Amino acid sequence: MSLSVQDQKEILRRRTFAIISHPDAGKTTLTEKLLYHGGVIHEAGEVKGKSGTKAATSDWMELEKQKGISITSSVMTFDYNQLRINLLDTPGHKDFSEDTYRVLMAVESACMLIDVAKGVEDRTKKLYDVCRLRDIPIFTFVNKLDREGKDPLTLIDEIERTLNMQCYPVTWPLGIGQRFKGIYNRLNKKVYFYDQRREGDEFTEHDFSGPQDPILDKYLDAETAAQVRDELELIESALPPFDVNEFLSGKISPVTFGSAKQNFGVDTFLNFFTQFAPGPKARPAKAGSEVDPLSENFSGFVFKIQANMDKRHRDRIAFVRICSGKFERGMKVGHSRLTKELRLSYSSQFVAADKETVEVAYAGDIVGVGDTGNFAIGDSISSNGKVKFEDIPKFAPELFAKLQVKDALKRTKLQEALVHLSEEGAIQLFVDPFIGAQEYIIGAVGELQFEVLVHRLQDEYNLEAKLNRLPFTVARWPRSPEGKPVGQLKGNFTLFKDMIDQPVLLLNQEWDLNWAKKENPDVDFATSISRAR
Ligand code: G4P
Repeated sequence: MSLSVQDQKEILRRRTFAIISHPDAGKTTLTEKLLYHGGVIHEAGEVKGKSGTKAATSDWMELEKQKGISITSSVMTFDYNQLRINLLDTPGHKDFSEDTYRVLMAVESACMLIDVAKGVEDRTKKLYDVCRLRDIPIFTFVNKLDREGKDPLTLIDEIERTLNMQCYPVTWPLGIGQRFKGIYNRLNKKVYFYDQRREGDEFTEHDFSGPQDPILDKYLDAETAAQVRDELELIESALPPFDVNEFLSGKISPVTFGSAKQNFGVDTFLNFFTQFAPGPKARPAKAGSEVDPLSENFSGFVFKIQANMDKRHRDRIAFVRICSGKFERGMKVGHSRLTKELRLSYSSQFVAADKETVEVAYAGDIVGVGDTGNFAIGDSISSNGKVKFEDIPKFAPELFAKLQVKDALKRTKLQEALVHLSEEGAIQLFVDPFIGAQEYIIGAVGELQFEVLVHRLQDEYNLEAKLNRLPFTVARWPRSPEGKPVGQLKGNFTLFKDMIDQPVLLLNQEWDLNWAKKENPDVDFATSISRAR
C-alpha cells in the first residue's frame, strides 16, 4: 500500500534542524524564543535562563541544571507557517562533540549562532567543521545586536575568512548596541523598527526604497543613519541575488541579525527558515542505495540513546530519526543488525522533560522508542527490515580512567551500569587483556564526561565511585590495508579490546604512536570506527 496524499503532505512539511554555537552565544535564549513563536511556550521568559530559578526547557538533567550547561540533547517540536519544525538541541560543551556529530546526522540543516561581540569562537568553528563533514546547509543568526559588538561588515568578513564560506546577508542591522533600532529585510525590502526599552513583539514595519530612504532619519541618529547608508550601498552593489541552490549545497550561508533576548529579528529568521530550509532528503543507505523519504516503507536509525530520563522507571529510550514513510505506534519493524522483528509499542516525543505518547509520526520526525536493550547507536529499523543506513562513527577518546566502588559487593552492579552508559555513547569501554571484563578501562573525550559519569552513577545507580586516572592519551584501532582489524602488532605493543571485540591500541603519548607506526608501516591506525557489530 503506498502512502496517502495526506501522509505525503505531512512528510513534505517536516523541517528538522539544530542550532550550533559557542556556549553563551544565546542558544537557550533563541530556542526559547523559537518555541514561543511556535506557540509551545506562551509567555516569553516563561522558561528562565541558567541564572534563573528554572532550568531552560532543553536542559533537564540534574547536573545540567546545577552546572548550567547543556550536555544531553533533546528534541523540540513546534509548528510555524504550516510547517512542522523539529529542533534538535546540541550539547554546547566541547567534551560532547560526538553527541553533536550524531545529532547533525539526524538533521537537514543547522543554524549557526554567533555573538556579535565575540564573532566566530573556537567552539563554533569546530561545530561548523562537523557540519561541513556532513555538507549541511547552514543559516547564520548574529545575536545580541542590542549589545556593543563588531560592526556587521567586519563580522561578515571574519565569518567568511575563518570558516571559508561565503555569507549572504538576508537582513541588515540598523545600528548596534544602544543605537540598535531595527533591521532591514533585503528580500522583502521592508524595514522593521523596535524600541529596545520595550522587549516583546512590538515593532513597526515600513516599505524601504533603498539606502537613501528618509525613514532611516526618522528612527536613527545622524551618525548611525550615515553608517547604515554606507554599508547598504556597499552590500547592495557587491552582492548578487540570493541563490537558494548555493545555500542548499553549503556554498553560502544566509545571515540574519537580531536580539534573541529581546525577541527581535527571531521571527524574520523563522520566516526565512520556513521559506528555504530543506525538508526530509533522500538518505544514503549501505550498498550505495538511497532511501526516499516518501517511500511507503517506514525506515529510521537510532542516533541517540538515553537511559534513566525518569529515574522512577529506569527507562531507556532510543531516539529514532525517521527517514522514510510513516510511523504508527505498535507497528512491527525489522531490526537490521539483530535481524529480528520488534513491536514499537512505546513511543514518545519530547519537549525537554515533558514526554507525550506519539501515535503517528513521519519522515523528518524524531520519536523516542522504549528500549529493552535491543538498540545501539547507529542501528537501522524499517518495515521490511532490509534498510541499513550509514554507520555513525565512534571517535578516539583522549582521557582514560578506571573506577573503584567503595562497597566491593557492588562491583558487578558498577560493571552493568558502565555497560548501560557506554551503550548510550556517554563513555567508551575497553578491556585489558590481562584483567578481563571485570574491570573496564573507561575512555572519554573530555573531562566533563568523567564528571557526568561519576554524578550519574551516584544519582541513577546509587553507586559511589572513585575515578582513578590512567596515563593513556591515545586510542587507535589498527586496521589492515583492506580495513580488517589487526589483532597483533610488531614491537611488543599490548592490544586492548573495545566493546565489540575490536583490537584497540591504548598509548601514553603521540610519540608511542609514531613508534607503532614505524614498526608497523602496513597498518592504518584509525581514529574513528564504525559502531556496527
Ligand atoms: P547558551 O545557551 O548559548 O549558553 O546561551 P544563553 O541563551 O544561556 O545566553 C547566555 C547569556 O546571554 C544569558 O545571560 C542571556 O540572557 C544572554 N543573551 C542571550 N541572547 C541575548 C541577546 O540577544 N542580547 C543580550 N543582551 N543578551 C543575550 P545571563 O546573564 O547568563 O543570563 P540571564 O540572567 O540574562 O538569564
